[in-house]
Amino acid sequence: MSTGTQIEVRGLHKAFGDLEVLRGIDVTVARGEVVCVIGPSGSGKSTLLRCVNLLEEPTSGTVTVAGTEVTDPDVDIDRVRRRIGMVFQSFNLFPHLTVLANLTLAQRRVLRRDRREAAEVARANLERVGLAEKAEAYPAQLSGGQQQRVAIARALSMDPDLMLFDEPTSALDPELVGDVLAVMRSLAQEGMTMLVVTHEMSFAREVADRVVFMDGGVIVEEGPAQRVVGDPQHERTRTFLARVLDPAAAPEPVLGPTPTPVPGDVGKQGQR
Ligand SMILES: Nc1ncnc2c1ncn2[C@@H]1O[C@H](COP(=O)(O)OP(=O)(O)OP(=O)(O)O)[C@@H](O)[C@H]1O
Ligand SMILES: [Mg+2]
Repeated sequence: MSTGTQIEVRGLHKAFGDLEVLRGIDVTVARGEVVCVIGPSGSGKSTLLRCVNLLEEPTSGTVTVAGTEVTDPDVDIDRVRRRIGMVFQSFNLFPHLTVLANLTLAQRRVLRRDRREAAEVARANLERVGLAEKAEAYPAQLSGGQQQRVAIARALSMDPDLMLFDEPTSALDPELVGDVLAVMRSLAQEGMTMLVVTHEMSFAREVADRVVFMDGGVIVEEGPAQRVVGDPQHERTRTFLARVLDPAAAPEPVLGPTPTPVPGDVGKQGQR
């Protein structure tokens, strides 16, 4: 793995009017590293991700992506964004276009690839996410999990240097989550640089190199994934994890004795 910093966030602040959503965030993601961001709703996770590709403009602080400071007023942000793949909770596929056309559109418009090359790249990436046979299907003919894998393949077709994921599985039925996580896991193994907001704690623990826990617009704790998820040092992290790993048990005891949670079940909870 080559070294180098792909994402560097320094002293990042973001306010919406009087609401200070990010209050001094520092994050570094090295090339090939997978960093998961966890934290309660409203803690600023999506805002942080959106500041990385300038979908939100930071109030202060700097963001540097692959050596280019995106917060520099003179930056060509479209050029930087081209190197960043972004996958959201909603898939945002064009319903009137086939899967293949969804994957070739931006390649042709933005990267100026010809029809044949764009289709070749698209098919290779559909193969990568296990959907080679769905090239001619329309989004409505696919399950949510398949649509999300198409969205990932679409992002990959732009040859990104790094990928941002914002809760890519949280809109999915539990039985569809695994296939999407498997694709993300294989991307990580291929050495893709990834910054992932997720509630999937088993994914974070097993796939991430580091986990960042945010609360109230600050990073409360960060470190190796196994340690932050398995042995958190801060009370707030512990409380959050207890709630995510076993929503029935926290913050208040529920009626009567509760059955012991099934350990393999954690990824499905807290979603619906
Ligand atoms: N465009 C906006 N205008 C005003 N307030 C916003 C805007 N975007 C986000 N916020 C507020 O900023 C705070 C952080 O939002 P953000 O979406 O970053 O949280 P999050 O950690 O991603 O939460 P969740 O887990 O629910 O997705 C919230 O209080 C939210 O209401
Ligand atoms: Mg969010």
